[in-house]
Amino acid sequence: LNVVHLTAEMAPLAKVGGLGDVVTGLARSCTARGHDIEIILPFYECIDEDLLEDFKFEFDFDCPKGCEWDGSFQVGSLKTQVFTATCEGIKMVLLRPDWGGDCNIFKGGRVYAGSYNETEAYLYFCRAGLEFLKVSGRQPDVIHLHEWQTSAAAMLYWEIYNKDGLHKPRVVLTIHNMDNTGECRAEEFMATGMLGDAFNTVEKALDERTIGHNPERLSLLKGGVVYSNAVTTVSPTYAVETSTGGGGWLSGTLAEYQQKYHGILNGIDDVMWDPSSDLYLPCAFSKDDLSGKYFLQRYLRSGLGLEDPASDDGSGNNRKPLVVCITRLVPQKGIHLIRHAIWQTVKQGGQFVLLGSGHADGDFRHLAENDFKDHDQVKLILGYSEALSHFLFAAADIVLVPSIFEPCGLTQMIGMRYGALPVVRRTGGLADTVEDEVTGFTFDGTDEGSLDVALNKAIDWHRTRASKWEEIAVSNMAADFGWSRSATMYLDLYRSL
Ligand code: ADP
Ligand code: GLC
Repeated sequence: LNVVHLTAEMAPLAKVGGLGDVVTGLARSCTARGHDIEIILPFYECIDEDLLEDFKFEFDFDCPKGCEWDGSFQVGSLKTQVFTATCEGIKMVLLRPDWGGDCNIFKGGRVYAGSYNETEAYLYFCRAGLEFLKVSGRQPDVIHLHEWQTSAAAMLYWEIYNKDGLHKPRVVLTIHNMDNTGECRAEEFMATGMLGDAFNTVEKALDERTIGHNPERLSLLKGGVVYSNAVTTVSPTYAVETSTGGGGWLSGTLAEYQQKYHGILNGIDDVMWDPSSDLYLPCAFSKDDLSGKYFLQRYLRSGLGLEDPASDDGSGNNRKPLVVCITRLVPQKGIHLIRHAIWQTVKQGGQFVLLGSGHADGDFRHLAENDFKDHDQVKLILGYSEALSHFLFAAADIVLVPSIFEPCGLTQMIGMRYGALPVVRRTGGLADTVEDEVTGFTFDGTDEGSLDVALNKAIDWHRTRASKWEEIAVSNMAADFGWSRSATMYLDLYRSL
């Protein structure tokens, strides 16, 4: 099969959260099975220069683009440069809108930097992706879209492709998170360059079926659901939750399109996340020999200024669990529960390390600079660090994921792969991947008391049932969280279309 992904993230070029990991893992797994997979990504200004070394300029083309001029919308075109390379074993295409000077639509120090108009930028990117396929003569069997950022391509593709009626790729949309459905004004849709006759056609497509939560706006994600041939989300439980009320105002639409809506559990990339060959780690370990893990734990404790508790059994496996939480700090992730877990862990005699990124880190910054400044049981690190995240997964005894909702979640699976036991709230993909008292510990409520029951039990098991703990850790490491099974499900879905 020939599949083209249109996406806002791809690890390691542009990763904010799990979307980047998933696109890379799925594409690599399908490529390895002999399929022709290509990923199209915006050429963000913030992509690390070292990662761009292999990219070569191929050609440029004029991409239609609408913009507001003197109060009315007009269509012009935006020169778009195409760069290609093989990255992480996957064929990549970067599209760079060239406005001359430093007028890159995707500018700023981060992906979703807030320094550009996201809606306009991604609407342009959807059009540019489809135009690129056309001008380069690509004829994919499937165009795979992700999230609201690329959903508009589902609405545009027939306009661009099916006009000649010759080649009809099927369109698949994967919803990774319904937090943001990409609501925009109808005029903003003109950033796709659809005006005049063409826009009237699109406007017809943008009928009441794509009206957003705010009736004055259209929802790009909803449009994607309506116009794609198949829609997936990233775990079976989240698929059920979202089509039965948990998808907010979009639940009705998902229920209506139930026939084409599937929950396929994410995997984790087993090249990127492998404790026996992880290049970020100074030493390797595996389920057959955990000594490297215990070494890394001591190394990390000393590096972070945490107390190194005395070993009680001579194995190096001390009985003060290291609880780790690696997350974007957004309401979805259960901020109040994370905050509470820090205090509760200390109260129960454990140690806590947070690696948290995002806008809502003010609260934690206060804690980091006051209550837990130079603390010997707690370290709160605010920011994003790929290298440190690998280190923390490797050193962790417990990985905490107390999300209010979680479409899939990767950190509980990565933690298990690195010999940790997860403590998670039983929702979405967390419910599909963690079994209480078998692979980790789960709780249901969104209150502190519910979390305490699971966290206290985990800390108690770690202290009093050392051999059972290690048995679970080793069996978690042996479990198959790789992409193989899920990639097969995606390939079957592609073929069925
Ligand atoms: P989400 O996509 O909602 O953020 P996931 O659990 O699916 O949640 O994926 C999160 C990914 O991002 C994981 O690979 C995790 O290690 C990584 N990550 C999250 N926050 C940070 C951070 N502050 N620093 C480094 N990596 C992070
Ligand atoms: C989203 C979800 C997360 C999921 C990830 C990758 O950002 O919040 O649960 O694992 O996408 O699909």
